[in-house]
Amino acid sequence: MNRTKTALLGTLFCAFLVAGLPRAGAAQTASADKGALPPSPAQLWRQIRSLQHSQSMMPMTHAFQPGSRMVDVYTTDLSNQAASAAITAAGSIPDVTRYPNGSLLVKENYNAKRQLTGVTAMLKLAFYDAANRNWVMAAYSPVGKEVAFGQVASCDACHTMVSKSDFVFAPPPVQLLPAAVWKAFFPKQAMSPAYLALLAKYPDAVVK
Ligand code: HEC
Repeated sequence: MNRTKTALLGTLFCAFLVAGLPRAGAAQTASADKGALPPSPAQLWRQIRSLQHSQSMMPMTHAFQPGSRMVDVYTTDLSNQAASAAITAAGSIPDVTRYPNGSLLVKENYNAKRQLTGVTAMLKLAFYDAANRNWVMAAYSPVGKEVAFGQVASCDACHTMVSKSDFVFAPPPVQLLPAAVWKAFFPKQAMSPAYLALLAKYPDAVVK
């Protein structure tokens, strides 16, 4: 074999390596992610507890914001590092178009006496539920008893209204939903008068 031929083969081999490596890497990542199972409801509750302990507030939100119904007259939103970084980078909650995998958002619901009535959470998990932006949806009692978990159609049906911001709402008064929408989803839950007042005051904040 002459030198030119050897050099040519060497070049081809290197080209193959270069072209081949990223593909192999991507395939590995994909299969690893596909194999990643959602946490159990108990495991996710432990992640939520740790955000509660560290009072890891969702950026651009504050404790005891106005909620929509009497079960959530006040709400407090928490988020983990991945989700918080996405919001901070975008500059506002409505400006986040995609949350990275591993993002965790939590909403604590409080009644008028500021007693915790329930906790909802959404965790972004690669390949989990492509039609619903891969969010694992979960609802818990105040002490962590599972109320709903996984692909929860009712959660997705409402949160899809803000698909532009990857299913994540900004808290009142930035974004509001009409009372009729809340009633359709939660017919037995009375609305919070404070929320109705916000609807009257900020009609332009209603999500279309
Ligand atoms: C009728 C509409 C509706 C339904 C149904 C609904 N949500 Fe929400 N959710 C909202 C709105 C609006 C907000 C933002 C306002 C607030 O914080 O109260 C919100 C906030 C949240 C947040 C904080 C992050 C964010 O988007 O602001 C989480 C987490 C959450 N919801 C999870 C759930 C889960 C889990 C379910 C189902 C068990 C659910 N939601 C059902 C409308 C809904």
